[in-house]
Amino acid sequence: MLISIATYTRKISSLESSIPGISKNFRFFLKKSLNYSDLNIILENEMNISEAEVNKIEDFISLSRNKTPIEYILNDSEFYGRSFYVDSRVLIPRDETELIVDLVKEYSASNNPKIADLGTGSGCIGISLAIEIAGSSVTGIDNSLEALEVAKKNKNLHKTSNFELRRSNWLEGIKDKHFDFIVSNPPYISSSDEHLKDLMHEPKKALISSENGYSDFKKISTQAYKKLKKGGILIFEHGYNQANKVNEIMQSNYFNQIKNFKDYQGHPRITIGIK
Ligand SMILES: C[S@@+](CC[C@H](N)C(=O)[O-])C[C@H]1O[C@@H](n2cnc3c(N)ncnc32)[C@H](O)[C@@H]1O
Repeated sequence: MLISIATYTRKISSLESSIPGISKNFRFFLKKSLNYSDLNIILENEMNISEAEVNKIEDFISLSRNKTPIEYILNDSEFYGRSFYVDSRVLIPRDETELIVDLVKEYSASNNPKIADLGTGSGCIGISLAIEIAGSSVTGIDNSLEALEVAKKNKNLHKTSNFELRRSNWLEGIKDKHFDFIVSNPPYISSSDEHLKDLMHEPKKALISSENGYSDFKKISTQAYKKLKKGGILIFEHGYNQANKVNEIMQSNYFNQIKNFKDYQGHPRITIGIK
């Protein structure tokens, strides 16, 4: 029996109503995983495909049925214009997190800034900063060994010698002081949040924080104040409805000139404060 890309394109269109987005993801999958170009897809549309390709496409379909995000299927996610390896050991980088990189670039007047990226996960923020800011030295910190393995893979992929990795419970095990910037996209979802059911493939320890989602903002704010140099800046990403409370937490930890920044959808998403 002839099994072609066209056979699967038809099958996948019929799945679109139960798995929204699967047709678009299938085109990504053909390009990234099976190395088809747009031209191949057109020219070879009705040609028989190999058994190995059939198996890979069947795997793609069953992972998609199971709502596995396309980034985990392809082991690839884009952040700040670069490709990062991802798997279920780390959070998939989000578009709004790129604002952290923009802000550090904007505020880094000093040469050779020293930066800590707390909860580095895939390393997407820290590695982007290390590449974008000449002379910077960036420490990516995570307490998850699994996440650190992924970040190491990305460090090697991008050959970032000015990005180092450390395992620590936030800044507890970090002796360095006088950071110019401490940035963090920490876990900030309450364990009772109904959105968690849509994030079932991502690591819970990257998502959930106690005290209604605020526990890690409190710990990091207290620790960061001690590790920043005078005039150093703490930058947090937080939930769309958490800006006021994060602002209060930073105030009670003596940060000054606290400001919120909106994401592309107009939600206050990033809060910064100066020591
Ligand atoms: C929301 S994810 C952010 C990942 C990545 N920075 C990003 O923006 O895509 C939070 C990260 O914090 C790490 N984490 C959670 N608790 C931690 C702790 N106590 N100390 C250090 N890292 C922690 C998790 O392992 C996870 O990688």
